[in-house]
Amino acid sequence: MSTSETVPVVPLPGPCVIVIFGATGDLTKRLLMPAVYNLATAELLPDKFAVVGVAIDSMTAEQFAEKLKADVKETSGREIDDAVWSRAFDGRLFYASGDFGDAATYQQLGVLLEQIDRDLGTEGNRLFYLATPPMLFAPIIGQLAASGLSHEGDSSENWRRVVIEKPFGHDFDSARALNLDIISKLHERQIYRIDHYLGKETVQNILVFRFANGIFEPIWNRRYIDHVQITVAETIGVEHRGAYYDHAGALRDMVPNHLLQILSLVAMESPGSFEADAVRDEKVKLLKAIRPLDEEDVLSAAVRGQYDAGQVADQSFAAYRKSPNVAPDSNTETFAAFKVAIDNWRWADVPFYIRTGKAMPQRVSEVAIQFKLAPFMPFRETAVEQMQPNSLLIRIQPNEGISLSFEAKRPGITVNTDTVKMDFSYADYFGQTQFIGYETLLYDCMTGDQTLFQRADFVEAGWRAITPILDVWSNLPARKFPNYVAGSWGPHEADELLAKDGRRWRNPNG
Ligand code: BG6
Repeated sequence: MSTSETVPVVPLPGPCVIVIFGATGDLTKRLLMPAVYNLATAELLPDKFAVVGVAIDSMTAEQFAEKLKADVKETSGREIDDAVWSRAFDGRLFYASGDFGDAATYQQLGVLLEQIDRDLGTEGNRLFYLATPPMLFAPIIGQLAASGLSHEGDSSENWRRVVIEKPFGHDFDSARALNLDIISKLHERQIYRIDHYLGKETVQNILVFRFANGIFEPIWNRRYIDHVQITVAETIGVEHRGAYYDHAGALRDMVPNHLLQILSLVAMESPGSFEADAVRDEKVKLLKAIRPLDEEDVLSAAVRGQYDAGQVADQSFAAYRKSPNVAPDSNTETFAAFKVAIDNWRWADVPFYIRTGKAMPQRVSEVAIQFKLAPFMPFRETAVEQMQPNSLLIRIQPNEGISLSFEAKRPGITVNTDTVKMDFSYADYFGQTQFIGYETLLYDCMTGDQTLFQRADFVEAGWRAITPILDVWSNLPARKFPNYVAGSWGPHEADELLAKDGRRWRNPNG
């Protein structure tokens, strides 16, 4: 258990209404409402609070409330505590049916919100959550602005915030166009671009680990670190998302957001404070220091793959091209790996290898920091090549934790070494959590803390970093897809990417 005796009191957010566009959709069912319920369980919802669902389906508020309760029960896989549910939600769940493109929907919504303010004392504070397909982001924000619903007024007496899900654009130009469009209607302080990786405890802990401890930062640089590997591997395939995924691919789907978030937290400089913009300034600075790739670089330092039929965890797995809504001759990648150089004093000559893929043998998201070998080996009985360099593994999921491996003397008369580990596990220290990550993000939206949200310049810098790869890959369609078997660690070219630098991927269990 934790060695700390006192748990800081978390302040309650002020009065507000969460308005969910796309309230009958999958995201609301799987993530949003379970997170709102978890906040209720943790007694972290405002005293004066309501949820308004907006969607095209016709439904009464009572039917909507029943649906939400059944959905939360189904997706969280546990019984709902009726007392918690009633206390938090009875008389506080509302529903407005309407077309998102129709001004009448927003008029009707405005009337309902004013009524809620009067009845429940929510004081005009509103969090508009766009849990909709991306092509609706700009039109909904346009309607919110035109109807005055997103208008904060000059007195800042009440706030209006808009949460935007991913994908934010599908390349640099579209992301910039979307930013320009919404910035013409909202202030940046009102915009919360979500990346659910930033809701994960372990991702947030990267900054605490680096900057709340005195011993790691002095060695966090090119003098001591040989290279860094960032892996986000999934065992699932494309499932029912073929229509979206076949146009996106692994690079777009995972890299400019989740993997570059992790990269920026691992590699950024210390911010002057933990104020939202101080942290976000440093993250953007890091992304801007990524060395731009030219076409030759892409050909030699980026690898793509697509899975063929195989076996994942003893289950047979159909080829990507056989997935629903995927073209039978699709050239979309389900695996991407590449090498990144960061042009600054801290990281000169330290490669960062990044990879992500579907249908991999294990679900694992981790950062492996590989240190340099000790400069001199005074041990006669142990060949130098047997010595392993130290490595620090940040396990984002599953088995969340951090472990440091180092060499120790094996007991015996002669000096022989083995690699051993110092291991910190979240579950051992802090117990299991029911939180799914969205709780922190929703709480931060309600309290107005933008630290864990992507600012416009981060989104654009992320797309800019991968644009050369997107360009080369779209101009030169892959010729040998599928090129890895489901249940393997990707195409052999990914291994060669590291092998030509004299390195290899850290593959858990082989
Ligand atoms: C999403 C991607 O953003 O992240 C999915 O669109 C992916 O394709 C998912 O499966 C992974 O998230 P997590 O939290 O399961 O690692």
